[in-house]
Amino acid sequence: MKHECREFLNTPLDIGGRRIDGRLVLAPMSGLGNVAFRELLAEYGGAALMFTEMCSAKTVPQENRHVSPVFSWRDAELPRLVCQIFGSEPETMAAAARRIESEGFFGVDLNFGCAIARICKRNCGAALLKSPERAVRIVEAVRRAVRFPVFVKFRTGWEDRAAPAVGLARQFEAAGADALTFHPRVAPDRRARPPRWAYIGRVKAAVSIPVFGNGNVFSGRDCESMMSQTDCDGVALGRAAVAKPWIFREIANGEAFGPEAYGEMLNRLIDLLEAHYDQTRAIRRFRKTVVYMAAYLRYGHAFNKNLRNAADFEEIRMKMADFCQKPPELSEEPNLNFF
Ligand SMILES: Cc1cc2nc3c(=O)[nH]c(=O)nc-3n(C[C@H](O)[C@H](O)[C@H](O)COP(=O)(O)O)c2cc1C
Repeated sequence: MKHECREFLNTPLDIGGRRIDGRLVLAPMSGLGNVAFRELLAEYGGAALMFTEMCSAKTVPQENRHVSPVFSWRDAELPRLVCQIFGSEPETMAAAARRIESEGFFGVDLNFGCAIARICKRNCGAALLKSPERAVRIVEAVRRAVRFPVFVKFRTGWEDRAAPAVGLARQFEAAGADALTFHPRVAPDRRARPPRWAYIGRVKAAVSIPVFGNGNVFSGRDCESMMSQTDCDGVALGRAAVAKPWIFREIANGEAFGPEAYGEMLNRLIDLLEAHYDQTRAIRRFRKTVVYMAAYLRYGHAFNKNLRNAADFEEIRMKMADFCQKPPELSEEPNLNFF
């Protein structure tokens, strides 16, 4: 990666009157971006902001953070943590945003991108891109309700053209959004085809608030290409961050992590999952995560199968000890069949 690019990644960015100290952020991911994983990520460092898993706006106002599996956090992470919410009613979203602001989060993120049927059926997530006027009313209502940064995460929409997304980006800005994360894929395409980075450039050029580009950045090389092709203000990393929680440092500081880092990291993740969740939930989250890690390993299929089939953490720890004896080679790019 060119020196200027690395320097840029370490430049502060102002968002709605608050500042973050770099340009690489963790994208929101349900099931993956949980409080235990974020603690692991914080230990590696390098992510300027992290987004929570999506939380239902309906339940956020009365949610108990010590009981909820998703609306939960460590106080230490709040200064760089944005809570993502999904919902379809402007006032419900505004009430959730008020609670999130009162808890001390960096900001709130409105999910207008999730394309899974369970969410779209309730007129939430990407379904809102079919009724842009409602999406804009949500941004306006949330803007009126809070003073802290309001983010919007959205995707291309339901047809593969840049123009509707560009128009929406302008409307979100006018409605009071402070930053956008844009994932240039149509709904319901769930990552089968490559994202169209050119659309990120179009969105970025249309607004004056910061735009985070998102989609298929798996290495420093990808990050540099996305930034040079789109001129985006920052990059949101999703699956690559799950696979390699040190990737923020790898990309922004040029640090190298070898295969031995995997054993150490997985053992730490198990400790953290056990500290934050009961066994059943912890194991479920571990299984979801390990698949992404396997994607960067040679013989990743065997690794994944071996760990997934383990009955409990005791067995997982035994298998990890075997794995650490002779860690496999890492590849720079992931095997996309896992993703
Ligand atoms: C398992 C999984 C869960 C996700 N959950 C969310 C979510 O809750 N909210 C959201 O806005 N995007 C969600 N996404 C989409 C990611 O934020 C991101 O847009 C997508 O993975 C593309 O980025 P990547 O190529 O860096 O992974 C999810 C993606 C994955 C793989």
